[in-house]
Amino acid sequence: MTDDAVVPHSEHPDPASDTTSDEDPVNAQVEQVGGRALPIGTAGDSLTEVSLVVPTFNEAANIGHLLCSLHAVLTRTGAAFELIVVDDDSPDRTWEVAAAVASELPGIRVLRRTGASGLATAVICGWAHARGAVLGVIDGDGQHPPEVVADLVAAMDERTDVAVASRHVPGGGVSNWSAIRRLLSRGAQALGLLLLPGTVGRVTDPMSGFFLVRRDVVATADLDPVGYKILLEVLARGDVRRVAERPYVFLERAEGESKVAAGHYVGYLRHLMRLRLHPLRSRALVRYLLVTAVALLADAIVFLWIFDRQGWNLTRSAAIAGEVGILLTVALHDLWTFAGRATRGTIDRIRRLLGVQIALGTLLFGRLLAINVLVNWFHLGPLAAFCVALAAITPASHLLGSRLTWRGVRP
Ligand code: GDD
Ligand code: MN
Repeated sequence: MTDDAVVPHSEHPDPASDTTSDEDPVNAQVEQVGGRALPIGTAGDSLTEVSLVVPTFNEAANIGHLLCSLHAVLTRTGAAFELIVVDDDSPDRTWEVAAAVASELPGIRVLRRTGASGLATAVICGWAHARGAVLGVIDGDGQHPPEVVADLVAAMDERTDVAVASRHVPGGGVSNWSAIRRLLSRGAQALGLLLLPGTVGRVTDPMSGFFLVRRDVVATADLDPVGYKILLEVLARGDVRRVAERPYVFLERAEGESKVAAGHYVGYLRHLMRLRLHPLRSRALVRYLLVTAVALLADAIVFLWIFDRQGWNLTRSAAIAGEVGILLTVALHDLWTFAGRATRGTIDRIRRLLGVQIALGTLLFGRLLAINVLVNWFHLGPLAAFCVALAAITPASHLLGSRLTWRGVRP
């Protein structure tokens, strides 16, 4: 039996078998990275202006040409840039082709990622390793025309948070898509618009995988790498105020094949639902629910105290108790739940205060009405009526009121 017989032949190269070596100028270009998700962070290096990430999987036939074009385009913009290829250890050794280009041209980095896969996580991985003040992404298969990068860079003036290359503004388009493919694409967008109007409606091409974003917009955002459409994540969870769009024509693939399968449509639906159902994630959500509970408790205690102990009339007691709950909600959310994010100046605070007051005040009025109806028409005891009305209306009103008013400052 020879050694050959026991060494399994695999298309997937063993990362351990070709570790980077300084003697090999091409391999020396490759940064090995693991699959663990890293935060993007606020720190760039103050020299790099633009970090453009090129996610790749089996793009050996496309990446060389694309990198040369991108390098030329970015050089012409005059911006200090880096190009970061994030390859998921492609069986066709895309990373090696990219590294060969990187050894010839400055400003190109190649990350060979093992232990993870997926377009969105690859992009976030690239951004986490990036040094630029502006982060970006472009497909590695040549379907996004490299020249448009110059338009996006030009669009990123100091007031723009996100510059999106769009197929759906004048001058943009798709090359020769079938009617069914256009329909699917537009259908997906319409569905997104229905479920997440505030996010999807901000751009004409929310599915675009070709855009730039200022680092501080996403630096502390809790981007969920499960999502497939990275732009949706950025718009939904990032601190995005101003968006610019520039046209591009989605080109046909010259080589290789698309990785988009039917499963991606399901993934997209899940992504939409996730963004819909979890506008507040993790810590903020817990705090949010705690504040609601505390406000309800205060509401009930104040009511018991002034109605039961002080003997004030029912409606007035419930109104005062409700108002205490409202003010507590506003104060705690501002100072605790959304601390750090909610501070957008005095005007913003006043706007929020008024917003919550109006939303919750209206519902409080409904609650007072309900208490009176329960007592006068259904002959319920005042305490019971208060509790029923509190249980029925207040949780909804607290959620609704604060959801509406803190929407713009949520994580
Ligand atoms: N690192 C990495 N890991 N890259 C990946 C993976 C992965 O798991 N899957 C795909 N890519 C890379 C591809 O190599 C390519 O460079 C790019 O991501 C886009 O993948 P395609 O498979 O070519 O996608 P597409 O052409 O159907 O869709 C593109 O256009 C859409 C337009 O609406 C993508 O850019 C989408 O993001 C975009 O939404
Ligand atoms: Mn493609």
